[in-house]
Amino acid sequence: MLFFARTSCSLLLRTPLHFLSLLSTTASSSSSFSISMAATVMESNFPSTLVLRGKSMAENDFAQSLKHNNTLKLPENGTVSVLLQSELDKPLEKDSFEIDLFMNSLSTNRFGRFLLWSPRLASTHDVVSRNFDEIPIGSVCVADIQYKGRGRSKNMWESPKGGLLFSFTLEMKNGRVVPLVQYVVSLAVTEAINHLCDKNGLPCVDIRIKWPNDLYLNGLKVGGVLCTSTYKSNKFNVSVGIGLNVDNEKPTTCLNTFLKEVSSLDYKFRREDILAAFFCKFEKFYDIFINQGFEALEKLYYKTWLHSGQRVIVQEKNEDVVVENVVTIQGLTSSGYLLAVGDDNQMCELHPDGNSFDFFKGLLRRKLE
Ligand SMILES: *[C@@H]1O[C@H](CO)[C@@H](O)[C@H](O)[C@H]1NC(C)=O
Ligand SMILES: *[C@@H]1O[C@H](CO)[C@@H](O)[C@H](O)[C@H]1NC(C)=O
Ligand SMILES: *[C@@H]1O[C@H](CO)[C@@H](O)[C@H](O)[C@H]1NC(C)=O
Repeated sequence: MLFFARTSCSLLLRTPLHFLSLLSTTASSSSSFSISMAATVMESNFPSTLVLRGKSMAENDFAQSLKHNNTLKLPENGTVSVLLQSELDKPLEKDSFEIDLFMNSLSTNRFGRFLLWSPRLASTHDVVSRNFDEIPIGSVCVADIQYKGRGRSKNMWESPKGGLLFSFTLEMKNGRVVPLVQYVVSLAVTEAINHLCDKNGLPCVDIRIKWPNDLYLNGLKVGGVLCTSTYKSNKFNVSVGIGLNVDNEKPTTCLNTFLKEVSSLDYKFRREDILAAFFCKFEKFYDIFINQGFEALEKLYYKTWLHSGQRVIVQEKNEDVVVENVVTIQGLTSSGYLLAVGDDNQMCELHPDGNSFDFFKGLLRRKLE
């Protein structure tokens, strides 16, 4: 499974232009909502459907044309059939993503307006990243269940029902800010949840960002963000993937379980509402980010992340002896690494060493002017 599989984090921010950030960063959080499944050939050949739906009439005409041309590149190699929403003949399973509910509450100009939904897909990320030319920028792919074969071992990872699992596309021009977009995405998730709480008279659900790309609730991982990009002729194709545990309390926590503990109201978060609220926030933040830079969002970001004033140990090689120093995190540098200050008032930029699951272990420091 793409989002939550345990993989080395060494690629994070190493190559800022072609960054790859991985979701699971610590051993304790890695199992948040992945369960490993025994591999069977049937898993990957299990037929599934991909349903297309646009927000406007024009976008629905586009869906029809896309289906007719049969140009979508689907990794499942023919086991996924493409349908328009209007062609669905039998009622969907009770807890399927409700496309109409989502589209009706979506109020964006660009993002989320073209939807590809499936009850079951290998990976939403693969669908959007392989179809950059086929679908409009800002299109979203949502799956109720997601699995993905993992390499040679043939183990399957699966994220079960109850998660909001989606990926969408972005096109960016300025490579220097590409690594920061994952922070904008994380912030849009937390602000979307805050918005739904406000709107429905709920107590604040204290969802926070664990740098670089995990979402935490009450000290437990509840979701994460994954961004990948490719670069060609001054353009970046950026695919953004998000997983958020809305309803599945196993094995750690989920939004609705937490909400039940803090509120006596009957309200439950629905994936459709969260997704619509997310795109609304993201569209706003993304414009600010592109026009004014991440600085314009920094204050809110620092309010939301878990690290202001956090003291961490950094390692330094001093004539072949590794010395450990304690520094205090101040914020982010312009390239998206951690900015910290030492007890000697020396400012520095912290880089993950690339070997630890936990980004906060084995940080290396580079002194700044
Ligand atoms: C489908 O193919 C036609 C003819 O090549 C083209 O004009 C149209 O843009 C295509 N539609 C989509 C959605 O790609
Ligand atoms: C995928 O489809 C191609 C062409 O139809 C076929 O040759 C290939 O064997 C298929 N691969 C798998 C894994 O089914
Ligand atoms: C974006 O993706 C499309 C389709 O895969 C590809 O043709 C194009 O070259 C890609 N552009 C970049 C910047 O990678």
